[in-house]
Formats: sequence, C-alpha cells, structure tokens
Amino acid sequence: MHNEAAMNFKKKITCIGAGYVGGPTMAVIAQKCPHHKVTVVDINKKRIDEWNSPNYELPIYEPGLVEVVREARDRNLFFSTDIPAAIQEADIIFISVNTPTKTYGEGAGKASNLEFVEKTARSIVEHATSNKIVVEKSTLPIRTAEAIERILKTNEKGLRFQILSNPEFLAEGTAISDLHNPDRVLIGSHDTPEGLSALQELVDLYAHWVPRERILTTNIWSSELSKLTANAFLAQRVTSINSIAALCERTEADVEEVARAIGTDSRIGSKFLKASVGFGGSCFKKDLLNLTYLCDYYGLHDVARYWESVVELNEWNQRKFVNTMLHSMLNTLSDKKIAVFGFAFKANTGDTRETPANIVVRELLGEHARVAIYDPKAIPNAKIDLADLLADPQVAPRITFCSSAEEAADQADAIALVTEWDQFKTLDYKKIYASMRKPACIFDGRNILNRKELFEIGFSVFGIGKPPLSHF
Ligand code: UDX
Ligand code: UDX
Repeated sequence: MHNEAAMNFKKKITCIGAGYVGGPTMAVIAQKCPHHKVTVVDINKKRIDEWNSPNYELPIYEPGLVEVVREARDRNLFFSTDIPAAIQEADIIFISVNTPTKTYGEGAGKASNLEFVEKTARSIVEHATSNKIVVEKSTLPIRTAEAIERILKTNEKGLRFQILSNPEFLAEGTAISDLHNPDRVLIGSHDTPEGLSALQELVDLYAHWVPRERILTTNIWSSELSKLTANAFLAQRVTSINSIAALCERTEADVEEVARAIGTDSRIGSKFLKASVGFGGSCFKKDLLNLTYLCDYYGLHDVARYWESVVELNEWNQRKFVNTMLHSMLNTLSDKKIAVFGFAFKANTGDTRETPANIVVRELLGEHARVAIYDPKAIPNAKIDLADLLADPQVAPRITFCSSAEEAADQADAIALVTEWDQFKTLDYKKIYASMRKPACIFDGRNILNRKELFEIGFSVFGIGKPPLSHF
C-alpha cells in the first residue's frame, strides 16, 4: 500500500465499506482526482481480494466499472483489509458500511441497524492519530450524525473530527454514469467555522468534475433527511403508477398511455413512471420502513401509516403478478413449468436484494409450480436467496437454474419476465414458442416485449396495466 508515489499525494481519502456504494463511488473519485490517494477498506477479505483481482473479476457488476478500476487501481486507488492503517493515514474518511433493517429488539423490521456504523466510528477513534473529516455515505436515519459524533468525541487524544453528511444518489446499473454526471451532490455540515471548512474541502473534491452549481450544501440534518425523502418519493411514484396499472387491467385503459399523458405535465415529469411487477433493491423498502419508524418515534403515526402503505402496496403488487398468472392459466399452476426471465431487482446488475423475483418464485412454488430461472448476472445471488428452498427436499426438485433463456423456456407452460434485461427483447420467440407446451403464455412484468408480435406467434400475452392479448 505504501509506495513512493504515495508520498506525493495531496490528500489521503479512506472509505470503510467496499460494497455497491463505496466501491464505485471511490473508484470514480480516484479516477477524477489522480493527485489524491483513495483507499477502500473492508472487513470482508474475499471482497477485497475480488476488487484486487488481476483479471478484474470485481465483486459487483456495474456497466463501466471495470474500465474505471482499470484506470485508477494501483495508481491512486487501493483496496485493502488493513483498516487501522487506512484510518491512520486518512485526511477524509467515508463511512459506507451497510445499514440493514434491524431484525431484533426495538424497531425490529423497521429501524436501521446502526451496529456497523457505530463499530466503524469506534475503530476511527481507536486508530486515528490526527484530525479528520468523517463523511456519512451510508443512508442513515436523521440525527445519526449526533450518535457518531458522540463516539468520536470520546477520544482522549485531543483529536478533532468534523462530521459531514454526503448521501449517495447513484442507482445500480447506471452507477458510473450517475457518478460521472450527477443531478446533484448533496453535502450537509454543521454551521460552525470548522464544519464549514470541512464542507468546503468536500465541495472542492467533487468540484474536480461536478459543476459547482450542482453541489448543494445544507445543514447536516436536512442532508440526512433528504436521502430518505428522495427514496421515499421515488418508491411512492413507482407504487402510484403500479396502483393505476391495476385499475387499467380492469378497465381496458393502458398504463403506458396514461403514464405518457400525465408525464408530459411538467409538474409531474415523465421519469420513473414505468409500471412493473414492483420495486426492489436494497434501498427503497429499507428507507421507507426507516421513515415510518422515525415518524412513529416522533409521534406522527398518521404520517407513518401513509409511508408504510407504499411498502404494503408494493408487496401486494408483486403477489398480484402471480395471481394474474394463476387466473390466466386455468386457476392451477400445479406441476406447470414456469420460465422465470431475470432474477435481479432491475436490469444491468447482479444485485438481488429485495428483488420482486424472490417473491414471485416463492409464490409460484407455493402454487406447486416448477420454476426454471435464468438471469445473465444474478444466478449466484439467486442461489443464496433461495438457499432455504434448495435445502428443502420437497421443494428443491422443482427449482432449476438455467444458462440461457431458451433452456429455461424449453417445455415450459409460461414465461414470467421479471427483470428488464435488454437481451430478452431480441430473443427468437418463434423458436421459443415452438419449444414450449401449449397453450403458451407470456407474462411481461416490465412491459418491454412486443405484445402484438408475440400474440401473432401464438402466445397469450399479459402485461402490467394493459389489456391481455389472449387466444382463449
Ligand atoms: C450502501 C449504503 O452504505 C447503505 O446505507 C445504503 O442504504 C445502501 O447502500 P451497500 O454499499 O449497498 O450499502 O452495502 P454492501 O454492498 O453490503 O457494502 C457494505 C460493505 O461494508 C460490505 O462489503 C461489508 O463487508 C462492509 N462492512 C460492514 C465493513 O467493512 N465493516 C463493517 O463493520 C460492516
Ligand atoms: C435507488 C435510487 O434511485 C438511488 O437514487 C438511491 O441512491 C438508491 O436507491 P436503485 O435501487 O439502485 O436506486 O434503483 P432504481 O433505478 O431507483 O430502481 C429501484 C426499483 O424500482 C427497481 O426494482 C426498478 O426496477 C423499479 N422501478 C424503477 C420501476 O418499477 N419503475 C420505474 O419507473 C423505475
């Protein structure tokens, strides 16, 4: 880690947590600021080894990431498990460890588990030998900075730590372009001379590639709350259009036409109005539940119920997808083979956290269907997510993982498209239809397929929020 060039670096930046957020974010900072040294550390040695892999077999799949890592790694970007050394040398420390929903004790199922954040703050206190700026990158409940500060202040070495909040808005699958060209960078600080000077350092860092007018500065509490609010609004928007899709399915309206019509109203805007099998991902549900917990904590129970209903409706929407399948396939799925196209929570990622596919597969198996799953990137994660079922001798024989969409569809009664991978748009559906049992159905949970063409081939076609094209 310490080579001669390191002596010439202007600043040393350390990130604790080499996950979906820490890894890509630091890779881009290193790419854009070659005069700073960026070290990403993690307690997980396997993960670090993968970041360092000679063939660039990185632990996460993200378009464009390999190119950035290739450019910066071993130049000014380093991955290591030596957390104490990386803390010691850093001027700026980003905390990017995960903050899963608590599974035990008070707030179980809703509140964020801040155990890892707290441990990280303690290890900063333990190993630091100079003043530092500490940046919260993980999504955290409002006023977490206070808790981190309390820990940082316990140091008996006379050190001063300035805490900033700098939430990440990147979306998986487009992380690198989101980082290269963000709508905004948000940085919250205390309104003290030291706080403002720390803020300026971080602003200067991002200003290497982000236009200054896109760098928003706020007080630290607004910054923390803005991240939760942004995710809550985005999730609510998807759920809102999905709720209207359900109504479309009953009334012969077409949700895409409705989305286009409302999206042209500049007050509403056209993005994030794609009706789907439901939203997934590590953030939306977690942050909504977190918001719910906070509102309840502050006695705002009606507000809490409002946001909670977004989570509930999303789960209903995921189950509705399988209900549609059941009712369209003669009310029984027992022993029918369903090809599941896609397992990731969205396209262009191998991430399966909170993926709708998990619920869809479980519901299908609950109906005694057989499932054949194909995803270009997410099969290893799918196997982990379904481990309990794969260990159950009653269920396991009904699950297969396939290495192509064609293999999954062979002899299947239906295709359930759950993830909007581009490659699913251009498959040879004539050939696929020929290999399937008849009547063959296709359920497009993302509305990405050419419905008319599929119908003409012979499929009965069901989309989200669209009138079915059925041969029976
Ligand atoms: C991020 C944010 O940090 C989280 O708050 C946000 O809500 C979702 O995105 P993410 O990068 O997706 O989390 O999490 P993950 O991929 O699980 O990475 C976290 C990393 O931190 C893991 O590699 C884990 O090993 C590491 N970690 C965790 C530590 O290094 N130390 C710890 O004490 C705990
Ligand atoms: C989200 C936020 O967008 C990002 O700013 C934040 O930093 C992390 O959480 P991410 O979860 O990676 O990012 O992906 P996103 O593109 O927001 O999609 C979330 C889910 O909503 C996916 O399952 C996606 O398929 C679904 N979605 C999104 C829809 O169903 N319809 C839409 O119109 C948009």
